[in-house]
Amino acid sequence: MNKVLVLHGPNLNLLGTRQPEIYGHETLEDVNNSLYEQAALGGWEITCRQSNHEGELIDLIQAARLDGTAAIIINPAAFTHTSVAILDALNAFEGRVIEVHLSNVHKRESFRHHSYVSLRADGVIAGLGSQGYRAALEAVMQAAA
Ligand code: DQA
Repeated sequence: MNKVLVLHGPNLNLLGTRQPEIYGHETLEDVNNSLYEQAALGGWEITCRQSNHEGELIDLIQAARLDGTAAIIINPAAFTHTSVAILDALNAFEGRVIEVHLSNVHKRESFRHHSYVSLRADGVIAGLGSQGYRAALEAVMQAAA
């Protein structure tokens, strides 16, 4: 079965209560449940993980290299703008990488305009809220069909 890994970076565990005017009212559990449903309909195996720790995200990306994961959908959150280490880990992963941001980072503070992860991402979705994750999953499943 095709496998996809969804990674959520720091503070995304607070979705629904963290600045809802920017990040929306859905919780991370709501978002993940809709992705589990969508993946099941498409016949894909999906794992969704969140971590506040850069090293843990890197470990999960490294594990995905070895377990047959076809694609990673990642919202690296603040690590987007700081983490060469996450970029390096993604560069060592051979499948597809889609970067997702709930907010339109380009409309926000200038420090959010640069993404290390975009240097590796095959696609980037920003500003569509949680719909961005579902669009990314759709794209991953379509590409493999
Ligand atoms: C974010 C945007 C980042 O700049 C921010 O640090 C986040 C979330 C988004 O989904 O819009 O934590 O990745």
